[in-house]
Amino acid sequence: MESFEKMIKRLLSEASGLAPETFASLVSAPPKPEMGDYAVGCFPLAKAFRKDPKKIAADLKEKVDLGGTPFSSAEAAGPYLNFRLDDAAMARLVLEAIRQEGERFGHSDFGAGKTVIVDFSSPNIAKPFHIGHLRSTVIGASLYKIYGALGYKPIGINHLGDWGTQFGMVMAAFEEDGSKEALEKSPISYSLKLYVDYNKKCELDPQARELAKSWFVRLEEKDAKALDLWSMFRDLSLRKFEKIYERLGVGFDYYTGESFYNDKMEGAFQRVEKAGILSRSEDGAEMIDLDDYGMPPFILKKSDGATLYATREIAAALYREETYSPSLLLYVVGTPQELHFRQFVQSLKLMKLDLADKIVHVKFGHVHGMSTRKGEVVLLEDVLDEAAAKALEKIEENLAAGKLEQGVEKMALAESVGIGAIIINDLKHRRERDVSFDWEQALRFDGETGPYLQYSLARVKGILRKAGVEHPSSPDYSQLCEPETRALVRALADFPAAVEKAARDNEPSHVTTYLFDLTKAFNLFYTRHRVIGAGKEKEGARIGLVSAAGVALANGMRLLGVPVLERM
Ligand code: ARG
Repeated sequence: MESFEKMIKRLLSEASGLAPETFASLVSAPPKPEMGDYAVGCFPLAKAFRKDPKKIAADLKEKVDLGGTPFSSAEAAGPYLNFRLDDAAMARLVLEAIRQEGERFGHSDFGAGKTVIVDFSSPNIAKPFHIGHLRSTVIGASLYKIYGALGYKPIGINHLGDWGTQFGMVMAAFEEDGSKEALEKSPISYSLKLYVDYNKKCELDPQARELAKSWFVRLEEKDAKALDLWSMFRDLSLRKFEKIYERLGVGFDYYTGESFYNDKMEGAFQRVEKAGILSRSEDGAEMIDLDDYGMPPFILKKSDGATLYATREIAAALYREETYSPSLLLYVVGTPQELHFRQFVQSLKLMKLDLADKIVHVKFGHVHGMSTRKGEVVLLEDVLDEAAAKALEKIEENLAAGKLEQGVEKMALAESVGIGAIIINDLKHRRERDVSFDWEQALRFDGETGPYLQYSLARVKGILRKAGVEHPSSPDYSQLCEPETRALVRALADFPAAVEKAARDNEPSHVTTYLFDLTKAFNLFYTRHRVIGAGKEKEGARIGLVSAAGVALANGMRLLGVPVLERM
């Protein structure tokens, strides 16, 4: 559906012969609702038209053709041109579009033919899980869906931390007295335990450290035994990660972790060398000097020849460019890596690669206060388990208070509500803001939470079940005229624009904010106006409206990754 703003820009463009973008930032809400639904301020047009803004408004009013549009009038008021929507025409347009488009309402072909890479989640094997990895997972998965809805071809990549000196420790520890059984049972936490314990041991015993180093050297030299051990740790952990991602409803197109670039780094290194920007430090490390840009050097090879995170970053970018020809590469990684990404982009610029301009570091703030019964968070799984357990308590409370339907399967509901709570707690504010985590707050069934969105949708579905129809035939749209009703229709029309804006700013929270506004509009409508039993004409039109609200709400929730429930 074309948004009303876009429609206005198109009409003005047709009336004036100027490009629709000319009117891009001129459309706003008028100061008073009596003046209409949209106001176009003509001041900035004075130059282009070489005319007085008042005259421009009056001329545009004469030329603009409202035939076949949902607008009933365009009135000049001083330097403004005010547009008014006709209630019935607007409702018809919006509700029919939603009914036709269904799950595709809010989608478009805006990005058709373009590929966007979303590098997200990317935890490290055998190293602690940071709550930042959860944020990256939630934000990245949502952006993946948002870009997909806008017609882009999204490619989700998990840049798994599956190579590095930690594997030396894990292998040394495992060879000493590791248990294959324990590893198979809980690969992520057991690898982490081996790593943490062995690290402690190294502090007392320098020989242990040497042993770990020699294991990593064996791995880098592709020693068969070392490679076997490494793949065992990697594969078991990966399978477990996949299960956790499944709980979150998240998937990846590729798990090309850091190890994937082992045989691609030399090539990348040579390209840097060819660009003539490689320098060597006194102790023999090789790097890209970034002094002129006020940054420390981007180190690509240590003095012993070992490669680094940075080397793999460049190799990965070159590989992605060559393999997928993306228009955009998003790296969903926390703010602490800001310097790394600035160095990375500057290095690509020095290599004279256009790629540099396509990279966006989608950064996000810290999480405060996330802890579980087991203490500080070390495993993603613990967070999800805790969420489900706490959600179950809440569900019991709400059941007792008669707020939930009896007979709904509680365990499955708790899992979905817990996940919805975590996701919305993360996606309700702009991503660069720090997030404070408070289970009580995140799990509330009222207020700005995931459970609240789920609950609102279940209520919509409940009304439709009771009505017995979802789409009444030929509803009388002129019935949708009360202020709260009209406001809900307008809120529905705003959904596609919210999705576009979310992609433009790489900010899923725009969709969340939209959904809260929508549920507010819905509640206002629903508390003021009876749906079932409102009398034949009103009832039919209102059921159509409720049904449309359910579609927009569910579509928005899907874009954020919040589980959509029929009943609760
Ligand atoms: N594994 C890294 C970490 O945990 C994140 C990787 C993000 N992606 C990237 N291409 N650098 O910090």
